[in-house]
Amino acid sequence: MLYVIGTGPGNNQFITKEADEILKNVDSIVCYKGYKEFVEHYGKPIHNTGMTKEIDRVKFALEKAKTENIALVSSGDATIYGMASLAYELNNEYNYDVEVKTVAGLSSANMCSSILGAPLNHDFATISLSDLLTPFEIIMKRILCALEGDFVISLYNPLSTKRKEPFLQTMDFIKSYANDREINYIIGIVKNAGRDTEEFKITTINELMDNLEEFMEYIDMKTTLIIGNTNTKIIDSKMITPRGYFNKYIDNK
Ligand SMILES: C[S@@+](CC[C@H](N)C(=O)[O-])C[C@H]1O[C@@H](n2cnc3c(N)ncnc32)[C@H](O)[C@@H]1O
Repeated sequence: MLYVIGTGPGNNQFITKEADEILKNVDSIVCYKGYKEFVEHYGKPIHNTGMTKEIDRVKFALEKAKTENIALVSSGDATIYGMASLAYELNNEYNYDVEVKTVAGLSSANMCSSILGAPLNHDFATISLSDLLTPFEIIMKRILCALEGDFVISLYNPLSTKRKEPFLQTMDFIKSYANDREINYIIGIVKNAGRDTEEFKITTINELMDNLEEFMEYIDMKTTLIIGNTNTKIIDSKMITPRGYFNKYIDNK
């Protein structure tokens, strides 16, 4: 059996009880080498591979899962930019004939939303800025559609030391879209959510673009950005997207 598990975005306290129980009972764990420190305490054999070795890692886990109970571990939720879909695809394509079960985890967007206040409290879209597997034109099309729909947007994989261009172009596009409509979107930036080094900033698209270099030094691959919609506001220094109760039941009394 192959369990595809997300361990949450941060320290061990953010793993679900279900995932924790499964990790205590599997025969061994397969993960990216950067996640080893988060699963070592289970005392299981750990098999790990490097960052761009996802296909090898999942194939290895499927092969082992023919005869053992294996946990394939990602951070956050394994079904959100994680290894879960690849496990189902490879299992089907190469006839491993393994039973695969995905186990829910807390995704970075959930965690970052509560750190910032409640910015995801209405409809939102999640978009990854990584153009490694998705052409950049498609990413931009999704950004435009999300803005047109006035969705709150959570941005995963914003930028890395080698991949800055998608972030630059996206922010530039959002600023000109906003300025044409006299909007100044509120943006929450959360780094290392759930870890001891957790920190966040709340800014606006104009402020971010005016201090672009500084923000680009701050933002890294352990950062998630949440771009508010046109109703998002600041209450008590927190970023809040109203659900609409005031419009319907309080302001119109
Ligand atoms: C490949 S995706 C994995 C997402 C993960 N499966 C999830 O559900 O959170 C990696 C991206 O998740 C976000 N991320 C992961 N851990 C984070 C953390 N502790 N704090 C903020 N963002 C995080 C970042 O945007 C990062 O670039």
